[in-house]
Amino acid sequence: MPATADAPDTYDLVILGGGSGGYACALRAAQLGLSVALVERDKLGGTCLHRGCIPTKALLHAAEVADETRHAASIGVNAVLEGIDLDKVLSYQQGVVGRLHKGLQGLVASAAITYVEGDGRLVDAQTVAVGDRILTGRHLVLATGSQPRSLPGLEISGRIMTSDQALGLTELPERVVVLGGGVIGVEFASVFASFGAQVTVVEALDRLVPAEEPSISAQLTRAFRKRKITVRTGARFSGATQGEDGVSVTLEDGTTIEADLLLVAVGRGPVSEGLGYEQAGIVVDRGFVPTDERLRTNVENVYAVGDLVPGLQLAHRGFAHGIFVAEQIAGLSPTPVDDTLIPKVTYCDPEIASVGLTEERARAAYGDEVQTYDYNLGGNGKSQILGTQGFVRLVRRTDGPVVGIHMIGARVGEQIGEAQLIVSWEAHPEDVASLIHAHPTQNEALGEAHLALAGKPLHAHA
Ligand code: NAI
Repeated sequence: MPATADAPDTYDLVILGGGSGGYACALRAAQLGLSVALVERDKLGGTCLHRGCIPTKALLHAAEVADETRHAASIGVNAVLEGIDLDKVLSYQQGVVGRLHKGLQGLVASAAITYVEGDGRLVDAQTVAVGDRILTGRHLVLATGSQPRSLPGLEISGRIMTSDQALGLTELPERVVVLGGGVIGVEFASVFASFGAQVTVVEALDRLVPAEEPSISAQLTRAFRKRKITVRTGARFSGATQGEDGVSVTLEDGTTIEADLLLVAVGRGPVSEGLGYEQAGIVVDRGFVPTDERLRTNVENVYAVGDLVPGLQLAHRGFAHGIFVAEQIAGLSPTPVDDTLIPKVTYCDPEIASVGLTEERARAAYGDEVQTYDYNLGGNGKSQILGTQGFVRLVRRTDGPVVGIHMIGARVGEQIGEAQLIVSWEAHPEDVASLIHAHPTQNEALGEAHLALAGKPLHAHA
């Protein structure tokens, strides 16, 4: 029901937070004829648009161009990389962000959404206060997202920074320590190395990108070493001190690494403190807001979406959550979002893309009834042209569907769309093998892997 003149600040939905989860929910709800107020204290678009996905991928593209230039002469294109003009890189990055931000503002403005700028706080489970303004919602949607975490005793200031500050660097560091070899860690390590810095990645666990298949971690480590990035896994951080000229990072084994910059990338934590969630009766667990599969919190008519909900912290999960909640409130019967079927891409060089179960998780679910196949990109024409190494790894239930696809190599992120359809639609290798993949594309590698697993390999060495 739309807001009336008598009760102008009563809405079907009041959404707190205008990032991927919040604005997707607002747009879908407005499409469905619901009245919506969307509250944002910073910029519409949130982390993804302003401090995450978009600006970092712009940096990674600049990094790729730098590397291509560096290697151009080896394929007969004589070019010299004269240097990185960080000001220009940043203005290119900000240009991309600015255009998308403007587009998004236009979308929201034309969508009959009441956009409220300011710091919102729950008064109770139906009410959000933004300064003096009181917004009442028949439903509340909590979409306040996440922020970089640090470690106890490690203060973020000066040369010790998180991705938030690293995105606005005005001077290129010569030596960088990246603390954390997860997604943010390896993406930034890749950028800094491409921009000419000496990079050391310090990861506490025994491998980089520990959420991926172990063979992907091993391939990435090999590729990073080839790129002269130092990888220290199983390395426990003990402390860091900084002065005028640099930062000194100490590990528990006594090693000290000197650098110009320490990037802390040890995960992101929820934004929920001081927002009145607990006072409104909403259960908060270590800052996150747990929900059921329909994204309902423990309090009736209060939902949570995106990074605030325990699970994968990905913008496209936020979009899917937001759309789901809008449809749920509108009385449709949307299908719950299943984290296992969410595609993941890490944009370091080489790229990593995966969806579904790792072999280990598949074996936990199906015991011995699991088969795997690795297709080496060495047999793929387009990958040879690009000069990249890597593989496509399939995990299937024996005589059953493909339950996981894992890829590493330049540009493999672009293959995740088909991989996602295969896993989500529970395709068997034989189903995919009968489809034709265009030649010469990297996409063929996905087709070839399925041909092989279906028992009829073409360009595959045993
Ligand atoms: P993460 O959870 O992916 O990685 C953090 C890493 O830090 C882990 O490998 C962990 O073992 C390590 N670590 C923790 N404490 C440590 C210590 N004391 N010493 C050394 N290592 C330590 O978190 P990250 O990379 O900060 O990213 C946060 C979230 O943002 C992730 O969920 C990620 O998926 C998301 N994101 C997604 C991107 C994408 O989709 N391309 C890009 C960037 C972030």
